[in-house]
Amino acid sequence: MGIEFVQILPASGPRVPSDGAPAEQPRPATEAPETAENPAPTSGKLKTFYIETFGCQMNVHDSEKVAGTLIARGYRPVDNFEEADVVLYNTCSIREKAAQKVFSRLGTFKKGHRDNRKIIGVLGCVAQQEGDRFFERAPQVSLVCGSASYSKLPALLERLEAGNRRVTGLSLDTDECFETELTRRDNPFRAYVTIIEGCDKACSYCVVPMTRGPERSRASDKVLAECRRLVDAGYTEIQLLGQTVNSYKDPSPARLNFVELLTRVAEIPGVRRVRFTTSHPSDFTPEIVRALESDPVLCDHIHLPVQSGANPVLKRMLRTYTREGYLEKINCIHSAKRAISISTDIIVGFCGETEQDFEQTLSLLDVVQYDQIFSFKYSPRPNTAAGKWADDVPEEEKGTRLAILQDRQREIQFRRNQVLIGREFEVLVEGYQPRLQQAVGRTTGFAVW
Ligand code: 5AD
Ligand code: SF4
Repeated sequence: MGIEFVQILPASGPRVPSDGAPAEQPRPATEAPETAENPAPTSGKLKTFYIETFGCQMNVHDSEKVAGTLIARGYRPVDNFEEADVVLYNTCSIREKAAQKVFSRLGTFKKGHRDNRKIIGVLGCVAQQEGDRFFERAPQVSLVCGSASYSKLPALLERLEAGNRRVTGLSLDTDECFETELTRRDNPFRAYVTIIEGCDKACSYCVVPMTRGPERSRASDKVLAECRRLVDAGYTEIQLLGQTVNSYKDPSPARLNFVELLTRVAEIPGVRRVRFTTSHPSDFTPEIVRALESDPVLCDHIHLPVQSGANPVLKRMLRTYTREGYLEKINCIHSAKRAISISTDIIVGFCGETEQDFEQTLSLLDVVQYDQIFSFKYSPRPNTAAGKWADDVPEEEKGTRLAILQDRQREIQFRRNQVLIGREFEVLVEGYQPRLQQAVGRTTGFAVW
């Protein structure tokens, strides 16, 4: 699946695009001082929680784990923040606009902060970037915790329950994953399973290594045990997650590589579909394609973000591959015995991107014939290498390039979809679309039907 940037509200709330916020240095877990605006909760009798999520699948899945952790401590989920004793806001900072969104949303939560008894917590990437500045800008906030510190959440919650006013978990200095068996999954069919957290790449535009910390792989036996439990519980589809999922390095003595782990998950009796996201082109090997060719349980879809089709841009982005190197991987996928759909992420208007560079990206779409693209205007981020460079493509020009790119892709997708008319596909039905009066779901290639 591509990176779906969504806002997930509890239950079946609306989905809207997300965005990002300014940055901050990492800090260790500490307690912040109390203030009159932020008194202690009434007692240790907190009962209900509400969690709202912005961002990628990693954030969505983190929220599922946080929800499970809270439920195990006796909290009950509710569908609106007004009813909740604890309101958690899991934030995304990949692009800039969300800073305002985070603070305006926190303002709304404050309105429901009758008699100051509610605990409001900020999680995720903006929490990591802003750190305890949140307490100054949004005094209603009691908990600030970045994703690299989620393993400390139970301890942080305990401190809140004990009456502490302000707690933070902001350390990036960890080799731990957020291991919990207490995940409360929202989708009853498709289960996310993290295999690797953080990122060790250093793409010059990207905040993720800063907000999610260094790469940590989970032990393969833990991953496999979780997948077996999920299949036993009736899940049809398992989606292995990681910012660079194919950089997986098993820390356990079994030392499985990514393909071995993938195949072992697909071998679990009863699992119908296994997919993975997101792959980094530099770590993408022909063995992944061979595995997909030989096992129909492995879904025929690869998300392989290219970001740009022009070598000078790729070089400045520090993507560690060239257009030619990327196209070799694409050729390998195209020559598979079984058709595999391909999606990608593209950034337009990156620092110094010329008309000619942009033309190269358009021509890449023609060569690859993607089934889907996720495209973004470059947004400078603090504490990234490119954040210090001139953001020299005017905003209007970025918008024009984005529209041209999306038009080109629309034509490609229209042609590709026409070929599919009259063919039959297995669809995992995930819901009902009242407006269209039809069931909706996805094919193994991740197309929506
Ligand atoms: N500006 C615009 N898009 C970005 N992405 C990551 N960082 C930025 C940024 N600073 C996009 C990339 C990445 C996707 C998750 O978000 O395309 O693959
Ligand atoms: Fe960001 Fe690059 Fe890591 Fe992806 S690989 S999360 S774009 S730094």
